[in-house]
Amino acid sequence: MTAKKINAGILGTGYYLPEKILSNNDLETIVDTSDEWITERTGIKERRIAADDEATSDLAIRAAEMALKDAKTSPEEIDLIIVATLTSDRIIPSTACMIQNRLGASRAAAFDLSAACAGFAYGLTVAAQFIETGAYKKALVIGAETLSKYINWEDRNTCVLFGDGAGAAVIGQVEDGFGLLSFDLGSDGAGGDAIQIPSSGSLMPVSKESIDQRLNLIHMNGKDVFKFAVKVMGNTVKRSLEKLDMPKEKIDWLVPHQANIRIIQSAARRLAMPMDKVVVNIQKYGNMSAACIPIALAEAAAEKRFHKGDIIALSGFGAGLTWASCIIRWSKED
Ligand code: UT7
Repeated sequence: MTAKKINAGILGTGYYLPEKILSNNDLETIVDTSDEWITERTGIKERRIAADDEATSDLAIRAAEMALKDAKTSPEEIDLIIVATLTSDRIIPSTACMIQNRLGASRAAAFDLSAACAGFAYGLTVAAQFIETGAYKKALVIGAETLSKYINWEDRNTCVLFGDGAGAAVIGQVEDGFGLLSFDLGSDGAGGDAIQIPSSGSLMPVSKESIDQRLNLIHMNGKDVFKFAVKVMGNTVKRSLEKLDMPKEKIDWLVPHQANIRIIQSAARRLAMPMDKVVVNIQKYGNMSAACIPIALAEAAAEKRFHKGDIIALSGFGAGLTWASCIIRWSKED
């Protein structure tokens, strides 16, 4: 790849999780399931659930404030805010605009990005383009979800899987050779029915009938998504590496989307990565869609697991269908 004039990388990270914990044992009292089934089939032990009066923007703002502090950046310095989410506060205005206002990011452009669980890697890639061209100096990319508000608590196929949370990163210029080295973004709309909220927009506006039929909640064909995910998670990282002519052995850390521990293990095997080099927090938080990758990244960074120069591969997939990977050389000092 040709050398870039300006390198875009992560200047700071942050995350936030709602206080309420819902354990597998708690779920046993709600649907016909067991801690054993959920643990063995998914790797999830518990997940966080937002309070009734807590919206996606409430989680996002806490993650954003932590990321800004970590990056020693003031809200006024932010040129662009991207919120990757499928559970925005409202269809309009965008959650990104709410964050812009609440942070006092007076100079920032702001928009929401819809790429489901691949949303943070999509958002990071979009933000990096603005930094690399010199159009913007600093961007805030957030992945935030309150999926609990779209769960059918009578459907054991889905209700055990999801949780709420938010993660954020401040993106800006980093040293030569560091930051976002390459990316791979993709989509396959033909698989769109596999994960959907059927009654949520102009195709089938929410109505009493659609609510009665639970069509305003998440519907998923888990098996189809599973088959897609095990292939795409490793393949997208391989495509990002090919652009750099970099062998997979160079990856120090894999930060995958946290949908199912078996999918994560399969991706790790395909990339020949030992599991102690894979950032996993699915047991604590479940699948938080766009929030999974930035929370895993921010938590690992806060635990000082990454060192300057480490090669980190982000890999996500989700509704759409979408997928995305980013190869990053970590630029923050230990
Ligand atoms: O962010 C991206 C979105 N989603 C994903 O990535 C999800 C990808 N898919 C998966 O993770 C897995 O397919 C699931 C975890 C959703 C399901 O695991 P599975 O191994 O594919 O199970 P299955 O759907 O084949 O179901 C096996 C059995 C069924 O019973 P029968 O038909 O064999 O009698 C299900 O009814 O397990 C049953 N089952 C459950 N049993 C207890 C399904 N959900 C549950 C449950 N508790 N919660």
